[in-house]
Amino acid sequence: MLAANFPVGGAIEPSQLGVAADVALLQKHFSSITAENVMKPVTIGTGPGIYNFAPADQLIQFAQTNSIQVRGHTLLWHQTAPSWFFAGNPSDPGYRDLVRQRLETYITAVVTHFRGQVYAWDVVNEVASDTAGQTYRESSPWHAALGPDYIEYAFRAARAADPTVLLFINDYNTEHPDKRTRVLAIVQDLISKGVPIDGVGHQLHINVNTSAAGVDQALTAVESLGLINHVTELDVSLYSDPGSCYENGTGCQADYGANVPQSVLSQQATLYRQLFNVLRSHSSVRSVSTWGISDNHTWLSTFPVNRINRPLLFDSGRLPKWAFWAVVDASIVIP
Ligand code: G3I
Repeated sequence: MLAANFPVGGAIEPSQLGVAADVALLQKHFSSITAENVMKPVTIGTGPGIYNFAPADQLIQFAQTNSIQVRGHTLLWHQTAPSWFFAGNPSDPGYRDLVRQRLETYITAVVTHFRGQVYAWDVVNEVASDTAGQTYRESSPWHAALGPDYIEYAFRAARAADPTVLLFINDYNTEHPDKRTRVLAIVQDLISKGVPIDGVGHQLHINVNTSAAGVDQALTAVESLGLINHVTELDVSLYSDPGSCYENGTGCQADYGANVPQSVLSQQATLYRQLFNVLRSHSSVRSVSTWGISDNHTWLSTFPVNRINRPLLFDSGRLPKWAFWAVVDASIVIP
């Protein structure tokens, strides 16, 4: 088991439940799972009033059989948002109410379906802007249809459908002061309106050159608002690319190929150790999940470009890496 202070989770796809090595790894080391994709509206929200719960139910069943908890991800995301939510003419007087009703109906159905089966929901994902001077992600179709109020509608509908599940706003780059300021401005606005929100989910898609100090500051900032913290999508990329790599695929660091230098894996292990020391020092941290369970399956092998990446705690053979040993045993000397 990775840590006793909080559940330690990993994102998975239902297909991995048919892979013996993944099942064994989950059973041995993970106490929480997140659906990498199948609890998103793109999978569940087939159409108005039509729900595809079967793939997510498979994960729930596996979790229950193995005494593993489930984190819900996510009720709303601008990426891959099904277009039926926004169908209609935005200049019609009833359009706003129609879209709001579709959102609330969807959230009510999904949260009700999984009531008692998930311990937390990422109610909204990545709603803060990446642009200086802009708080909300204004390019989101949700923002276009409803303005920033959609966030409040989503939280209130989720709470009405399940009075006890923990409700989170989830975002990336909260370890950076500028993005954190925007995320926390949204949180403060919700709190001031009495909107039910329990915590902030920090995705923590970081890289070997990230400083754990920024994470420490993010956790403290959330605590000062009276909320709890979850780490929701942790991975430590081997590459520290410039912004252009993410924006248009240029300037990306060269592929290490199959022979990743030990120095880079050691750097990764050191950061994982520092990070877990920070996480364990905050009692407000109640759940920590990696985005994937082993280097065999990671979104970073195709994003921002195709290349070898090894961002997780277990290698592609599902064996513990130096990063794992660095986290679980403080006495181990990283080579
Ligand atoms: O399942 C279909 C398959 O039927 C189809 O043939 C194939 C062809 O493109 O696509 C498959 O769907 C892909 C899906 O992953 C499952 O593999 C989608 O194209 C692809 O866009 C999708 O990517 C996911 C991405 O979110 C977008 O939903 C990644 O797996 C997933 O890791 C990533 O996760 C996000 C978090 O939800 C939010 N934070 C960032 C994180 C990384 O982008």
